Amino acid sequence: GHVYLADYQPPAWRIPHADLRFDLDPDATEVEARLRLEPARPGEPLLLDGEDLELLAIELDGQPLPPERYDYDGQRLCVHGVAAACELRTRVRIRPAANTRLEGLYRSGSLLLTQCESEGFRRITFLADRPDVMPTWRITLRAERRAYPVLLANGNPVGSRELEGGRHEAVWENPHPTPGYLFAIAAGPLARVSTTLTTAEGRRVELNVWAEAGDVERCRYALGAVERALRWDEQRFGRCYDLDVFNIVAAQDFTMGAMENKGLNIFNARYILADEATATDTDFLAIESVVAHEYLHNWSGNRVTLRDWFQLSLKEGLTVYRDSEFSADLHSRALKRIEVVRLLRGRQFAEDAGPLAHPVRPQRYREISNFYTLTVYEKGAELIRVLQALVGDEAFQAGMARYFADNDGRAATLEDFLAAHAAASGRDLSDFARWYAQAGTPELRISASFDEASGDYALEIIQSQPATPGQPGPKAPLPIPLRFALYGPAGQRVGAAPQTDAPVRGDLLELREARHVLRWPGLGFQPLPAFNQGFSAPVRLRFDYTPAQLATLARWEADPFSRWDLLQQLAVQAITGTDARVAATEALREVLAGLLADDGADPAFVAECLALPDFDTLAEAVPVVDPQALAGARESLLATLAAALEQPLRQRYAALAAAAGGGLQASAMAARALRNACLDWLGHLDTVPAQTQFDATATMTERLAALRVLLHRQAPGAEAALAAFRERFAGDPLVTDKWIGLVATRPAADALADVQWLLASPWWKPANPNRVRAVLGNLSRGNPLAFHRLDGAGHRLIADQVAAIDPINPQVAARLLGAFEGWRRLRSGLRESAEAALASLQDRLASADGRDLLDRLRA
Ligand code: ARG
Ligand code: ZN
Repeated sequence: GHVYLADYQPPAWRIPHADLRFDLDPDATEVEARLRLEPARPGEPLLLDGEDLELLAIELDGQPLPPERYDYDGQRLCVHGVAAACELRTRVRIRPAANTRLEGLYRSGSLLLTQCESEGFRRITFLADRPDVMPTWRITLRAERRAYPVLLANGNPVGSRELEGGRHEAVWENPHPTPGYLFAIAAGPLARVSTTLTTAEGRRVELNVWAEAGDVERCRYALGAVERALRWDEQRFGRCYDLDVFNIVAAQDFTMGAMENKGLNIFNARYILADEATATDTDFLAIESVVAHEYLHNWSGNRVTLRDWFQLSLKEGLTVYRDSEFSADLHSRALKRIEVVRLLRGRQFAEDAGPLAHPVRPQRYREISNFYTLTVYEKGAELIRVLQALVGDEAFQAGMARYFADNDGRAATLEDFLAAHAAASGRDLSDFARWYAQAGTPELRISASFDEASGDYALEIIQSQPATPGQPGPKAPLPIPLRFALYGPAGQRVGAAPQTDAPVRGDLLELREARHVLRWPGLGFQPLPAFNQGFSAPVRLRFDYTPAQLATLARWEADPFSRWDLLQQLAVQAITGTDARVAATEALREVLAGLLADDGADPAFVAECLALPDFDTLAEAVPVVDPQALAGARESLLATLAAALEQPLRQRYAALAAAAGGGLQASAMAARALRNACLDWLGHLDTVPAQTQFDATATMTERLAALRVLLHRQAPGAEAALAAFRERFAGDPLVTDKWIGLVATRPAADALADVQWLLASPWWKPANPNRVRAVLGNLSRGNPLAFHRLDGAGHRLIADQVAAIDPINPQVAARLLGAFEGWRRLRSGLRESAEAALASLQDRLASADGRDLLDRLRA
């Protein structure tokens, strides 16, 4: 059944304190829990969540409970006849080594660790497993010292001792009220890198990053990232760390990216382990950003937590906003914006346009795990940015301070967040709240008119929102902060403010109604308008530009993000356009030639401009998706441009060799980015430079880019290079995922045979989420020609693998199934084959995750 936002009831019982004792063992762990319980709504039964627990003992206030005093059905424990404050003691047995779902307590390699968000705690022991129940915690861990020398939990370490029989014990206390979803323990032969610092409030804090012993040297970069994030939150938001230790543990088996458990973040190893020989520059930046994301949750998520899961974006959207501001402040703001908008346009817009579309704050769910989406995270972050633009930077900053202060230690709602910002800005935010309730990407249609006789110029802006599942519309207009500029014939900015009924502050227009008109009476010439600089609003924008106008604007606009954006639009015209195609290609060639010749331009920015819109972005630009035609048109544009730009590409590639040598300073990373972009383009002409780079380089950034060209262009040396790479990194699962990813994304229909080969190889590990993503995530999300094979074999393979993985790890299976979200827009033939693949799953999925997603996809 569904859970509805409107049905929220506060907890009937409070749990002020939880005291847990673990006797850890991979095959059978015993958990004793003492819960202090207080009635919050007298008369309500005492119900606790507990999933698949083997109940060994149960006592109330020190007295064993007879069987007629309680019921446990494998899901919920009901204790009868309790009305007053009491202590409940339970002892349960759980089986970590048999836990392939990776929710609750599980084994990864030689480690035992936990993942509780959203509803995994109930697989460890009994609790009201909901975010608005927030005990303080005492956690005692006992285990065999030899196998589990390090024992970590939330909070501060308060004691440890040796026990009989080679066992030992560690005790942790978490004094902050913390919901069960933020509970964590980790045990095993962990080694660490460590540093200490003093917070702005004067607290001494030890920072540790832990991994299995052989990996610990590769934790140093992540440790530095924690320190940078901690300092940034002090400076930018005045938020300090609040425990004596901050621990991070890296695990090879982890369903998501990472988890912000209080004082004990647990990470997918891919977002921790890095050195220049095994990680790319992109990996380093991703590590820094995920480390920051989880650290920043300590305030946006932990100190201020959620009332219920409908509020998920209140911590996730806000924390994505915070981590992207962190990255923008530390590195290039424009490049960060480009990265974010690429993801939003390519993937979140697709989600918003398909059968899985949902509001940033959903109104109902069947399985909350299926709502850790691009909409909740990335669109949610954009809404914070929209709010900031609407109220202004200063009021926004004051609103954030007020939100943290007013809600510290509380389980908050979106309404609490809006109340803090309304109070700080003095603005009624009820119109803004619609952004959270209405699904679908808003569209702005803009048309210009110019009257020769009077010299009057006008822009008409019409906003609309598409119908989405459960929301047929019509939808009320949204407040949209839209930046704009007008340029005169020589590229000068028109300073005159328009006459309009919409509020205008400088270059920021605030759309409030479904239609607004902006007038410049007697302007005297027809200007060239530009919109949505910096992507001020997460909207689709329609204005009929000619290729020449886009190219002109790409020279006039000062902001690198806007210039990149205009080039992307030009490339979309060159690939999907009809009449404009040739002109767009020529305009693009000219602008790119200029950029390649410009030694003053940041090479990292030029590399972004060379990265043509990806398949997902192109698919968003057309009404019916013909993967073969789109990929073919993209490929032929690349081939044409590469041939036309061969000389500048070779020159730039060679000139940057010295700067690209090594090191993580911005200039070296930028040089490698542009060299690799040039190499990729040159691969359309010949693969000799790729072979040379592959043989000579010392960095993973250059090695992997070269291998990609060799494999994807099927160069003569491809097989030998792959074998050499495979052997060199044979013991490293993360690097193994990298070459597997290249194999799975070779842009050709017959790459499916390579995937089948992988699935039959010793490299196939269906219980390891990273490996599933490397093989099948890459095939379904990164290889349109193989996934959408005309014979339907790609669709069938993914459906069969979803069915096979569903009983192992339902969350991973459901993620994979999401690759079908665009199926209704596929060209005929492919649409039928996708539909048949989905239909074939009807009786093959048992998990709540899989069933929920399948039903929504087919609805
Ligand atoms: N809170 C984690 C993060 O964003 C992600 C947890 C994902 N949980 C899930 N059930 N999908 O940092
Ligand atoms: Zn998060």
